[in-house]
Amino acid sequence: MRHLLIMSVGLLMLGLASLIYGDGELAPATDAYEQSLRIAGDVDSWSALCIVIVSFVTAWALNYSAPKVRVFGTVLAALGCLAVTVWFFSFVTYSGVLQDPKANQTPLDSAKPMLLWLQACVALLAGLLLLLAAKRQAASNSEEIVVLAATNEQHQYGRVSRVLHWATALFFLALIPAGIFSSMIPEDHGYRNAYYVVHKTLGVVIFLLLLIRLAWNRVSQPPSLDPALTSLERKLAGAAHTALYLMLLCMPVTGFMMTSYHGYPTYFFIWELTPLWTPSDAYIIWGALHKYLLPYLLYIVLGAHILGVLTHHFIDQHSRAVKRMVG
Ligand code: HEM
Repeated sequence: MRHLLIMSVGLLMLGLASLIYGDGELAPATDAYEQSLRIAGDVDSWSALCIVIVSFVTAWALNYSAPKVRVFGTVLAALGCLAVTVWFFSFVTYSGVLQDPKANQTPLDSAKPMLLWLQACVALLAGLLLLLAAKRQAASNSEEIVVLAATNEQHQYGRVSRVLHWATALFFLALIPAGIFSSMIPEDHGYRNAYYVVHKTLGVVIFLLLLIRLAWNRVSQPPSLDPALTSLERKLAGAAHTALYLMLLCMPVTGFMMTSYHGYPTYFFIWELTPLWTPSDAYIIWGALHKYLLPYLLYIVLGAHILGVLTHHFIDQHSRAVKRMVG
């Protein structure tokens, strides 16, 4: 909590510096703002809504008391991963965007096709492993009823924290590739803005879930770390958790600031929030954070978090490690 407060103050100070650096006008820049072109039938907003609903249903099913529903949750999570792979191999690779991206790509942007390839392969692997896990789950614990309270307990997370955790994780699965791909699509492509609608909407939803999560953590104290962890592992796990919370705060805020200073709207499903400031070059600073520094930090922190849990589960053989948050 202390780290989040310090980071919020840091972001606030950067915001004030941007206002001073720009022409200091807080009034909506209506003259510079051009209403964006939305695709027919609001397919973009409907897609975002589908991702939100399916993610919540999956997160809820993964932690349901009846074993058959939990198997269904694992299958849904596997299908979500495989959907990202199918989208990449059947649409992105054939779109021509990877070979011929939007003009003005920086040298750092040349890593984007490789990043998308990597994410599609990781999604494929995760999808296949989850299908295997579902098969094992169906065969082994067919009678095991999970009794779970809504609130957190001393040694495990409760239902509310679990649903918030897994829904956020699933949003990342769609939002990150959508963000990278949207930044590569040439300006004249009709579907470019649709990807921004999905990306920004999910980003705002993640930010709202962070606020709910922080409030919930005050209502219901999260469990202490697994007592089986060594002191070094405890330090690493604590650092990874803090870093993840900081990312959940910084990514949406920097995305919103970059967008606003660039003169573009922020989307929340069919709704559009016009930029709050007059456009200025301050967007470059926010963009450097949102597009370059923070995503790479996020990949490292997310990777460390997942690797830590898997190592604790499979190598250290502490089966309760995963069960604190699922099943
Ligand atoms: C947890 C929330 C978020 C995460 C993890 C995230 C992550 C990312 C990533 C990885 C990229 C690709 C960067 C690149 O390779 O160029 C990106 C691009 C982008 N994001 Fe976000 N984002 C989040 C929220 C938001 C929000 C709330 C907004 C706006 C309101 C936003 C606006 C954008 C824009 C406009 C781009 C494309 C920039 C360009 O065209 O070059 N993001 N985001």
